[in-house]
Amino acid sequence: MVETDDGLHRVIEILSETDLSPYLSRIRDDLQVTKLSHFEYVQTNDLERIGLSKPAIRRLFAAIKRKQRSNTKRNSNTPLASSPSTTTSCLISPSSLQLTTTLGSGHYGIVREGLWNDLPVAVKILHGCNAVSDFVREANAMHTVSHQYLIRLHGIVLSEPLMMVTELAPLGSLLSRLRSEPKHFLVYMLVEYTRQISEGMDYLEQRRFVHRDLAARNILLASYEQIKIGDFGLARMMDSDCNLYKTGTIKSQSIPIAW
Ligand code: ADE
Repeated sequence: MVETDDGLHRVIEILSETDLSPYLSRIRDDLQVTKLSHFEYVQTNDLERIGLSKPAIRRLFAAIKRKQRSNTKRNSNTPLASSPSTTTSCLISPSSLQLTTTLGSGHYGIVREGLWNDLPVAVKILHGCNAVSDFVREANAMHTVSHQYLIRLHGIVLSEPLMMVTELAPLGSLLSRLRSEPKHFLVYMLVEYTRQISEGMDYLEQRRFVHRDLAARNILLASYEQIKIGDFGLARMMDSDCNLYKTGTIKSQSIPIAW
């Protein structure tokens, strides 16, 4: 565990929004920027020194200003959703992780089982930089929630590729278990899963999150008695009027249907 810092997510997010993700490691390591507010001390020539062009610098500063303005507005509108009071996730050093079997894959990359120090974990590994902003959004969403029926984020690894380290649900997805051992699941178990899913979704609603991809493939089994809702890749925060939610900038792929 290196440090607990929600701020770095915001830096990654802004670099991805301005197409400057390749500069992440130099901005973090050379300029020591780990929070948006650190940019106040960064000068144009610092950014030029690490290779940014003048238009890129202008784009970056404009995006930071916009982000700071919208954060201020959102904080005053949606105190619950922006409260970091329950966050326990952190930056994780790659050397503390050992990866083993592959659990699954998707358009974002793959999920592998692993050990974080001695703790069994699931590790989502992003391939390419295409889905960085979705990755950041997912990490931000998971970072602000904590509930017995939601997969917990332990932290992220700022390596290349980016990795997200979460709680492991040892029995994998409900969908594959239903397919591989249908006789194991009696009606009372399914009813209990439904109750737990409703409780998890109710918690998310109270935190102003919409999951947007609730499906049996995203329900994971911690045991035969307990589910965990996973895959927050499409989760969005609702506006303060509770009717709208921000769709972000999904480019081409899989526009989700709200659950
Ligand atoms: N597949 C995707 N995420 C997982 C998790 N957290 N545990 C087990 N299998 C998974």
